[in-house]
Amino acid sequence: MASKQLGERAPGSRRMFGAPVRALALAGWALLPLRLFLGATFTYAGLQKFANPDFLNQNSPTSIKAQLVAASRTSPIHAVLVHLIALATPIGFLIAFAELAIGVGTLLGLWPRVAAIGGATLSFTLFLTISFHASPFYTGADIVFTFAWMPLVLAGSSMRPSLEGVIAARAASTTSSATSELVAIPFAQVQRLCGHYARGRCAARNGEPCDAGRCPVLLGEPADPVERPRDALERRTFVLRTASGALVAVGVGVAAAVAAVVGRFAGGATIPVAPPELGGTSSAPAPTSATPSALGTLLGPARVVPVGGAAAFTIPVTGDPGIVVRPSAAQFDAYDAVCPHAGCTVAYLAQNHVLACPCHGSQFLVSTGEVISGPAPHGLMKLNVAEGPDGNLYLK
Ligand code: FES
Repeated sequence: MASKQLGERAPGSRRMFGAPVRALALAGWALLPLRLFLGATFTYAGLQKFANPDFLNQNSPTSIKAQLVAASRTSPIHAVLVHLIALATPIGFLIAFAELAIGVGTLLGLWPRVAAIGGATLSFTLFLTISFHASPFYTGADIVFTFAWMPLVLAGSSMRPSLEGVIAARAASTTSSATSELVAIPFAQVQRLCGHYARGRCAARNGEPCDAGRCPVLLGEPADPVERPRDALERRTFVLRTASGALVAVGVGVAAAVAAVVGRFAGGATIPVAPPELGGTSSAPAPTSATPSALGTLLGPARVVPVGGAAAFTIPVTGDPGIVVRPSAAQFDAYDAVCPHAGCTVAYLAQNHVLACPCHGSQFLVSTGEVISGPAPHGLMKLNVAEGPDGNLYLK
């Protein structure tokens, strides 16, 4: 064989952990359920991002930009992330396209090891940015996805059924070469077929004891090496894989465009644009008549918060983002907007009247901050915010 398969041992190498020759390469069928799940999940995730108008909308509190801003506060790679915020839109596009390409490549079994390495890399990057502070750690899906990709990285092109298998068979037939397909057969059958086995010994290895770990047949090194037209086969295989990859890339591009159009026509924007900010760039004049020490810490004019809407502010002591929702003219429900799952910033969804996290979908009651759904281990931290007699909001 021109190149060694994963799981092979060089002649003379010692057995380790008892794994049979080509054990990993022969695991293709066993990995089929995992492969289908990962492929379908990444395909769905990519299409969903293209179909969601808010994902690339820089003004949306659930956009990739909002997620990067939130992650840049808490991520262990925050020094890198702060420089990427300005590139949020192209990065979001790249993530969506990569997820779609990885998913489709995995489902089809085309360049499967490249797709699996891409999936593991993307998952690990998302772990470092979005899920690093998930608590307990196993509630963050990205670390689980990172390790779920590993068996597919190891198995590589041996996964079946796959386009790679079809290409290998076609290349072998058009170049009249022996197929490089790997098959699993009992070792006793190898002993019967190899022609070198006799009473527990191997004639091809000078009468040494027969050993599956050193079998010249399994290691792809026949006792009588025959020159085979491997170059033509490998060239043909490469051309077919590249052509198939280009076709799939075009298909992925078309699917992304269709998802984007359908998403905008069918759903429209589901999330309001970024809420107004208390004490931020609001045009409201600064209050003058209040006594902050008596009423609490001044946040800004209450009229900045629309009835039925929300406004953002920065919590003075902690520097955390805060959010205040105004269900009715006289009611203000305020929270530390840091999601207790992994530290993203929650946003107010007016149509559902909930506070929602853009990263992993946790939802919280507006009235109490309690968790409604999602991986957040507990509710949001409620803040005591009230309107003063001067029409300003104060944090007590
Ligand atoms: S950070 Fe994961 S749900 Fe909020």
